[in-house]
Amino acid sequence: MTNKEIKIAYKEYSSVDELPSQDRLLADAAIEAVELAYAPYSNFNVGAAVMFEDGEIVKGANQENAAYPSGLCAERTALFYASASRPDKAMTAIAIAAGQNGKLCESPATPCGACRQVMAQYQTKSGKAMSVLLVGATKVWKFEKVDDLLPLIFDSI
Ligand code: THU
Repeated sequence: MTNKEIKIAYKEYSSVDELPSQDRLLADAAIEAVELAYAPYSNFNVGAAVMFEDGEIVKGANQENAAYPSGLCAERTALFYASASRPDKAMTAIAIAAGQNGKLCESPATPCGACRQVMAQYQTKSGKAMSVLLVGATKVWKFEKVDDLLPLIFDSI
């Protein structure tokens, strides 16, 4: 038997103002995307922005439905739109922000497991590391690749 350990490295910034310029652009797009949420049941508005290798950005936001499981998280809305509208372009980064009662949440919103799995697959499809920015008002976390949020990614088939 061998004891093993997985370590996760990430950067913490105190606000979007501290970010390098490309990341700042993407973080601002995610904050803008919070306004696109349709979340009449949870009132938890989430915005996501995906950046492609050429710097283009597309946005998505959570979309809820009276039949609850039919709704979709912001991250998957953005990622599916990104892949469906630009199937041949590599995605290199995603940023996520959340807001409640018209205010950006203080702490970063961390993506659910299903969204992490979908990010992982588009990272594989793109053949490049996809960085993940989790944007809060007083704290911003940057992960250099999806693996850092989802160690031991399922990619066996
Ligand atoms: N939500 C997201 O959009 N992304 C996440 O990573 C977690 C949760 C949404 C789903 C639902 O519309 C609302 O937040 C409350 O769970």
